[in-house]
Amino acid sequence: MSEPSGGVPVLVLKEGTGRTTGKEAQRNNIMAAKIIAETVKTTLGPLGMDKMLVSSSGDVTITNDGATIIKELDVQHPAAKMLVEVAKAQDNEVGDGTTTAVVLSGELLVKAESLLNQNIHPTVIINGYKKAGEKAMEALDKLAIPVTMDEDKMLVEVALTSLGSKGITAAKDSFAKLAVKAVKQVAEEKDGKTKADIDLIKVLKKHGKSLDETELVKGMVIDKEVASPQMPKLIESAKIALLNAKLEIEKTEFDAKINIESPEQMQLFLDEEERMLREMVDQIAKSGANVIFCEKGIDDVALHFLAKAGILAVKNVSSNDMEKLARAAGGEIVASIKDLKANVLGKAKTVEEAKIGDDKLLYVRECKNPKAVTIVVRGGTDHVIDEAERSLHDALCVVRNVVEDGKIVVGGGSSEAEVAKKLREYAMKVGGREQLAVEAFAEAVETIPLTLAENAGLDPIDIMVALRAKHENEQTPYFGVDVFSGKIKDMFELKIVEPLRVKQQALKSATEAANMILKIDDLIASKSGGKGMMPPGGMPSGGMGGMGGMPPY
Ligand SMILES: Nc1ncnc2c1ncn2[C@@H]1O[C@H](COP(=O)(O)OP(=O)(O)OP(=O)(O)O)[C@@H](O)[C@H]1O
Ligand SMILES: [Mg+2]
Repeated sequence: MSEPSGGVPVLVLKEGTGRTTGKEAQRNNIMAAKIIAETVKTTLGPLGMDKMLVSSSGDVTITNDGATIIKELDVQHPAAKMLVEVAKAQDNEVGDGTTTAVVLSGELLVKAESLLNQNIHPTVIINGYKKAGEKAMEALDKLAIPVTMDEDKMLVEVALTSLGSKGITAAKDSFAKLAVKAVKQVAEEKDGKTKADIDLIKVLKKHGKSLDETELVKGMVIDKEVASPQMPKLIESAKIALLNAKLEIEKTEFDAKINIESPEQMQLFLDEEERMLREMVDQIAKSGANVIFCEKGIDDVALHFLAKAGILAVKNVSSNDMEKLARAAGGEIVASIKDLKANVLGKAKTVEEAKIGDDKLLYVRECKNPKAVTIVVRGGTDHVIDEAERSLHDALCVVRNVVEDGKIVVGGGSSEAEVAKKLREYAMKVGGREQLAVEAFAEAVETIPLTLAENAGLDPIDIMVALRAKHENEQTPYFGVDVFSGKIKDMFELKIVEPLRVKQQALKSATEAANMILKIDDLIASKSGGKGMMPPGGMPSGGMGGMGGMPPY
């Protein structure tokens, strides 16, 4: 609303619309983003703390996983939401490094704020950040170490580094090995490139026993039981039929009336139904199948005949499981019994119904070179299993990244320290005011080793001075913060290694998000019925800004 010389107000925006502009808008946005970054900052690294999240329905999640924490936050402020997007993108694209990405975006904004305070125009900062981001990517690429898919030891180390910062320390060795085996099993060469689709690794959680008993099954495990108690519970040398059709007599689509006038006719009618079902089962048996997984239902009479033929049947299997079964056992899903032939059957050493805790599961074991596998995660309590599953997801992702790209970088803040050093050298060449932005970027990147030190209870200033000095010496670019000894050490020797892709993505999305937030100089929020973008009282004004906050507990 503004008042022209005539004194009559001109309404441009709807009444009630909140608006902040210029520096105030920028400060608000930076503040909101900073709060998100600070929320996850303390979880970074192996000595980072965990968060306990309570949902509005009272469910408790205990986690160290940046993506999970951020997804659970009920964030309202638009700029804070952009950081949530950074975390989600990082999680979807590369599966690990979410905390790093968010901390980095937050820190880029904090550093930008002090430049804004020195009256440096946002455009100058944005340009400086862009240049620095590109230079950082280049420097990171130069630090990359090639790894081939056959270097199992190195792949295990990558998984171990990712698992090392999660709460499941006790079982991390077995988890790392499982992750490597599983990813390598589903990896395929396509057009000269290695592809590993981790969706082909089914992760099944089952309460009970301990994390150590988590098992990789070279085949599939399905949360179903054998369809009839008369059927065998174990089939060896299984030949598996995969059927996407009902094993029932089709009901007519329209109402039909059959007049039955005598008991004999009734019997004939039933006999005919039985004969048809028996024929279906005969066809299945003729194909050589001794196991059938059916995506649809199976008639009780058909079950009876199947049991008589010694065939193990499972009904109502999900289409997702059917597809994985086909990949695991090397069979084909057929849409009609007529198409069941020996060549479409999948094979497995055994198919067995096993009781785990209170549940029954179907194990399709030891398929020959399966292209889908299952990991059955065991653990004492639900919280443990859930966090184990999240950690396993990260481990599978990092191994996939390295298998696909063949490149790793050294962790423990060493890559970041080296990138920061390179950026400072570069800043001199850039000169002018942009130089300040490049230097600010370098400092933001250094927050990673700094936070690792802080979270380990070390003195961040001492550590950073020592770290910089080591990197100036140029012996090796791999010096980082060994959080356990509290000293600066060669992190490559300590085998703290991560996929290049994780670091690249974190840098890229953090720079993009920071620049996007910096570019905003006007925050216009329309008034909506209570649940607007803005917190009550209009515009976010410092403090928690528009963060929805945690539910009461
Ligand atoms: N033993 C170690 N010593 C020092 N630093 C380590 C060690 N293990 C891992 N790190 C470092 O910890 C950081 C990763 O921490 P963390 O896994 O908590 O966060 P993230 O990977 O960014 O996010 P998230 O795992 O939540 O998605 C990396 O910088 C990694 O190099
Ligand atoms: Mg991690």
